Amino acid sequence: MKKGKVLLTRKLHDFALKELRKHYSIEVHSGKIPMPKTKLLERIKDKDGLICFPYDNIDKQVIDSAKKLRAISTFSVGYDQIDVKYAKKKKIRIGYTPEVLTDATADLTFSLILDLLRRVAEGDRIIRKGEWRQIYGAYDYVGTDLAGKTLGILGMGRIGRAVAKRAIPFGMKIIYHNRKRLPRKIESMTHSKSESLNQLLRNSDIISVHVPYTKQTHQLVDMKFLKKMKKSSFFINTARGGIIKEKDLISALKRGTIAGAALDVFENEPIGKNHPFVKMYNVVIAPHIGSSTLETRKKMAELTVKNLELALSGRKPIYSV
Ligand code: DGY
Repeated sequence: MKKGKVLLTRKLHDFALKELRKHYSIEVHSGKIPMPKTKLLERIKDKDGLICFPYDNIDKQVIDSAKKLRAISTFSVGYDQIDVKYAKKKKIRIGYTPEVLTDATADLTFSLILDLLRRVAEGDRIIRKGEWRQIYGAYDYVGTDLAGKTLGILGMGRIGRAVAKRAIPFGMKIIYHNRKRLPRKIESMTHSKSESLNQLLRNSDIISVHVPYTKQTHQLVDMKFLKKMKKSSFFINTARGGIIKEKDLISALKRGTIAGAALDVFENEPIGKNHPFVKMYNVVIAPHIGSSTLETRKKMAELTVKNLELALSGRKPIYSV
């Protein structure tokens, strides 16, 4: 006898679906992504559990339509796509997938830093266009050293700390700004020093953002923020696009307010080929792939299923919002 009905707004790995089928009758959306709202509103009506993904929008309307819903499990560390406050009011448990994707996201962040400072993607484009000309000139294709530079980490949670650890062997100085100062033991493990936001902006050669997307961090990075950064500095975002006022970042990059940016996330995803970032030589862009490794995605799927199973059996998910 199945213990309930579960809706998935897109397909998960086969092993995860197999595990779910043992206990629940599941419905997997396979059409347009994200699942169209009207369809979601209809299909969620009789479900006990929901597995959702970053591009869904689990708002009040969806939650109201889900009269039987007891558990939401998101295949992501971010849960800004869920109206958490309202879901909690409705006594719905919510699970998410931190920890398992920390290393993958920190690796991607670091690869973007390396790419941007050493102009790898830019060089790749130059060669593919058949435009590889002079080289070894004093200023031809020159990038920026990492050694000796200051990396400013905004948000020193799991991912921020993992990025800091990767910067140590590169000989970088690490400073951070966080809501709360970290215990000395963690500061010493990450070789990092706490600074005010203004100090961080003034002193960093590279700023990497690792805060969650909330009302408080919405468009935190605007022209005022960017103007406080060094003209020679670089900005990295692998967190959420909404943290940046994109219009301001575009004009800061055009005007030379900062030197460059590497971005894995955008205000509206996916961005198309006509987006201003696509045409800017001092911007490295990636299609939201922070957690996209084979190993990590499998771990995320396992955790998503476990979180759901626990929540549906009335217990706290392993990682509970
Ligand atoms: C997350 O887990 O929130 C990531 O952004 C998805 O790749």
